[in-house]
Parts: sequence; structure tokens; C-alpha cells
Amino acid sequence: MTQDELKTQVGQAALAYVQPGTVVGVGTGSTVNKFIEALATMKDQIKGAVSSSEASTARLKALGIAVFDSNTVARLDVYIDGADEIDHAGYMVKGGGAALTREKIVAAQSAQFVCIADASKLVTTLGTFPLPVEVIPMASQRIQAQFEAMGGTARVRQQGGVPLVTDNGQIILDVTGLQISDPLAFESAVNQWPGVVTVGVFAHQKATTCLLATTEGVQTLSF
Ligand code: 5RP
Repeated sequence: MTQDELKTQVGQAALAYVQPGTVVGVGTGSTVNKFIEALATMKDQIKGAVSSSEASTARLKALGIAVFDSNTVARLDVYIDGADEIDHAGYMVKGGGAALTREKIVAAQSAQFVCIADASKLVTTLGTFPLPVEVIPMASQRIQAQFEAMGGTARVRQQGGVPLVTDNGQIILDVTGLQISDPLAFESAVNQWPGVVTVGVFAHQKATTCLLATTEGVQTLSF
């Protein structure tokens, strides 16, 4: 089974968590794109979606799914999103698609976080995937130095030869060389650094369920 087929399989499996008549929280990325395609098959049964990025908003709207401002929807039953890494406790690294800030916002207003991923994303300790951190540009040098003091190496993410600009008008640092053995403490600490908008560790907004695509079918992990 190809990676693309695994993503399709897990995107379709996530439909089981969507209750008719509700607004669904929708993440960002290639796995979520498969979920959005699947969601379109039941678009007449849901009210619509709250989206975590301009890219997902465009896909949802193109398929005829209404997109609501997050401020107009008090509470979501479920948020469905991918991950760059997920551990056996449901803690994740996210932000490979640069949408981590809005992803964390939508996750925070959702009762359940269903992570959809293929088995390659399951890790014992977070930190192999370069950790995305959205920062305010005027603080980037100091934040890079702070990561270096922790043993990491932080680089400004580039797109087309210039720093990538997020949907929020900020930049992303990708940090390698970290082993994140205490995700809750790490997230809390880095979030306090002046100039950090969002760190891509999702520990306080961890997954409640992970649908993991394997060649033997979709496994459900509950946390
Ligand atoms: C975007 C994300 C994505 O969920 C993460 O990068 C996984 O993406 P993909 O499904 O394409 O592997 O956090 O900011």
C-alpha cells in the first residue's frame, strides 16, 4: 500500500468521529486533505467546519463545505488533524505545514482531538522531526540562541529563497537536535519565551485518539 493510499484510508476512517448536525474542526496537511475529500461526501449532514489554515479553508470551500470563524462557534465536538510525530501518550509535534498556531487554537476549543497519521509518525520520544516554532521576526535571533543553549539548532524556514510567512504574518524556526522527553514541561517553558507565538509541541492539546494507518488496516489508539 502506498503512502497516499494509507492517508486516504485514515482520512476516510476519521468520518466515524463526525456527528451529523455539528461543526467539525479541520486541521492542515496532506493527510487532512484526504479527510476533507471524505468529509465532502457527507457535507449535507454537517453544518460546516472551523478551519486551521487558509489552505484548508480554500479546499473546504471548493468542495462546498461552509467554513465558520472560530469565534462564532463556542465548542467543537471534534478536531481532526495530522501530526509530524505522535508518541504513545498522544503528545505530538506539529507544524510541518506551518499552521501550528491556528491548529492549536482550534484544538483548544474541541472536546476531542483525533489525530490521523500513518504508522511512520509513531515515535517513542518526540524530537526527530525538526520542531516547528512560530516566532515574531524581531525575536528570531535570540530565540535561535536560546535553542542553541539547549543543544538544538534552529533555522528559519525558507520558501522560494526567502523566509516563509505564516497565515499570521510571522516566521517559522525549525529546530533539530532536541530530545523532548517531558513534552508538557517543554511546551510550557518555550511558550514563555518572549517572541514565541506557538511551539509545535502539542502536549497541553494532545490527541485523545490516534487513527494510525498501517498496511494491515487502521489501528485506533486511545489516550
Ligand atoms: C501542519 C501540520 C500537519 O498536520 C503535519 O505537518 C502532518 O502533515 P501531513 O499529513 O502532510 O504529513 O501540523 O501544520
